Amino acid sequence: MEQLFARMSLAAKRALRDPLLSRAEQIYHARRFNRELRQRELQLGATTLQSWPAYMDLSVAGKCNLRCEMCGLTHGDPTHPNWTFAEVERFSAYYPYLDTVNPTGAGEPMLVKELPAMLELFKRHGNAVGFYTNGTLLTSEKIDLLIRLGIDNINISFDGATRETFERIRHPAKFDRVLANIRNLIKRRRELGAKQPAVRLAMVLMNDNKHELPALIQLAAELGVEGVFTMFVSDRMPLQMPQKDPIGTNACLREATAVAQKLGLHFYSPGLLPETSDSASAPVTALLHSGLICTHPWMQLLVWNNGDVSPCCRIQGKLDGHDFGNANTTSPELLWNSPGFVHLRQRIAANDAPQVCQTCPLRTAKAN
Ligand SMILES: C[S@@+](CC[C@H](N)C(=O)[O-])C[C@H]1O[C@@H](n2cnc3c(N)ncnc32)[C@H](O)[C@@H]1O
Ligand code: SF4
Repeated sequence: MEQLFARMSLAAKRALRDPLLSRAEQIYHARRFNRELRQRELQLGATTLQSWPAYMDLSVAGKCNLRCEMCGLTHGDPTHPNWTFAEVERFSAYYPYLDTVNPTGAGEPMLVKELPAMLELFKRHGNAVGFYTNGTLLTSEKIDLLIRLGIDNINISFDGATRETFERIRHPAKFDRVLANIRNLIKRRRELGAKQPAVRLAMVLMNDNKHELPALIQLAAELGVEGVFTMFVSDRMPLQMPQKDPIGTNACLREATAVAQKLGLHFYSPGLLPETSDSASAPVTALLHSGLICTHPWMQLLVWNNGDVSPCCRIQGKLDGHDFGNANTTSPELLWNSPGFVHLRQRIAANDAPQVCQTCPLRTAKAN
């Protein structure tokens, strides 16, 4: 099997150099071979991979102009320098194989000076590009640039349907300013005859704002954006976690789903919470035994602003003493099979997912 994997990996590499193919065709075939290889590795539970990841999150931003209520930056997490183009370029071996790149991070990407050159690099490799922004810095000039570069998705963080809630959470952003920027983005996209970027409002659901979700969906429809994306606040805000009020949260999610259906808007919901203590205490084993496991460690590489890598935002540094590695000290190509990655894949493949995976709200991806 190892030999077959090696041959498929070689085929992907060769496609990228085939002189008879255009660049677009080279990339198309390399990704196709890589996707097939990954599928086989996943089915067989391979833990040292010859396939490359499909998704990459690059924390290009390390600073922000806001201090939102729930954000790590407000709770004492250190800021970091924004990345330079060279820091993005060091991952060039990955780009030909990636489906999607998300250049965001723990800060505001629109503050990153060399963001346009970075976006251009991703688009040159045919990557779909989507990122999060607080929307405060979307000037007409920047909007036109994002449309011209063909950026695929922009998620604009918007945590309340009313001025009062929005400005309390997203301090010191102005509700009217961000709304005007979103309207301008939709207007310029129409004027330029562009279909992209698709725009979504992104709401972090907390117990103090979740009741505004149906109204936010209404607002999104009025603005003409494509959808609303919601995620639960992390355990950084224990009292605000929707998991503490499953019945109230589910009522908001159900109402929001109905409003979105009526308005024909995409609504990306985190999924209903278990409402009884029985189902709340047994979710993971049930999921693992039913074959529903997390495939992030086979699919996704996240690079933190300080160069640390991991499969997702819940893990950083080491797991059981096994290091995921750092791009400043290790060749980026080697990080995908670092001891931390291999160890995590081994635990998940052995149906022994670590605690951090067992409590993850995203653990719904199917293995095949
Ligand atoms: C860290 S921000 C960076 C991008 C940009 N500055 C923004 O606000 O969209 C990325 C996303 O994480 C969300 N976020 C911030 N703190 C969070 C938390 N404690 N739990 C869950 N999501 C959070 C933000 O609202 C935003 O949608
Ligand atoms: S705008 Fe984004 S990065 Fe900045 S403080 Fe708010 S959530 Fe954090």
